[in-house]
Amino acid sequence: MELKETKLTPLLVANWKMQLTVAESRQRLSELQKSLPAKQKNIEIVICPSFMALPSLAASLSGTPIRLGAQDVAWDERGAYTGEVSPLDLVDLGLGHVIIGHSERRHLLGETETMVARKMISAYSHGLMPILCVGESADDRAAARHEDVVRHQLETALRSVPPPGRGRHMAIAYEPVWAIGTGQPADPALAAAMGATIRQILINQYGPVQAERSFRLLYGGSVDDTNITKYVHSEGFQGALVGSASLNPSIFAKMITNVARSTSQKSKST
Ligand code: PGA
Repeated sequence: MELKETKLTPLLVANWKMQLTVAESRQRLSELQKSLPAKQKNIEIVICPSFMALPSLAASLSGTPIRLGAQDVAWDERGAYTGEVSPLDLVDLGLGHVIIGHSERRHLLGETETMVARKMISAYSHGLMPILCVGESADDRAAARHEDVVRHQLETALRSVPPPGRGRHMAIAYEPVWAIGTGQPADPALAAAMGATIRQILINQYGPVQAERSFRLLYGGSVDDTNITKYVHSEGFQGALVGSASLNPSIFAKMITNVARSTSQKSKST
């Protein structure tokens, strides 16, 4: 069946990882806000700073169109989990989004597929929109098992969550591990091929209407202002997950403006 692009607003997610102190996060956010028009149309922007910076940024973002997200969430609300952060606290701060299963958590911190699946349930049941990350390593691709790896990650993560719909949305970020933080983004056609595979898995699982209405596919891995429009819109992705380039407020502002402009051009031409 022919895959139609979703009508959901494009989503740009900034993943600040553990790159900035709280004071630096405040500073970068204020620079970003100064670089953007007061009303940003045709795009949804989510900033995911460190947990420590969330309360202070939540206060300065209240009433603005920029949303705040977390980089992770615990699978339980409370309990003996030293160092974990409860979904209750994320909700209390007014967050709407959470990144789940980022490859750095999977590969550097030993997060398993079972843990990812439990975190998906945690996010969903607390009304947080999951931004689920999937993607193969360089070895997986060299061994031509990239599709199997991504399929397995996706199916395991989605297995226990209730079907989307009735306002419940999700974003799935395809992030080939070998493209993250390397300055070597995946070739747009290669990314698009995996995007189509992911979209087909969603169609098989939820049907074409729900797969289109409830899921945005994001590309992530060395996206910047010079290449973002090669992925968003033109290659079947409806947004991007941005690491390094999102740390520079003027570059990230340019990315936001470029995507918003291409969205408005696209909607005029359809
Ligand atoms: P990058 O990171 O843009 O620096 O490659 C992306 C990510 O880790 O989500």
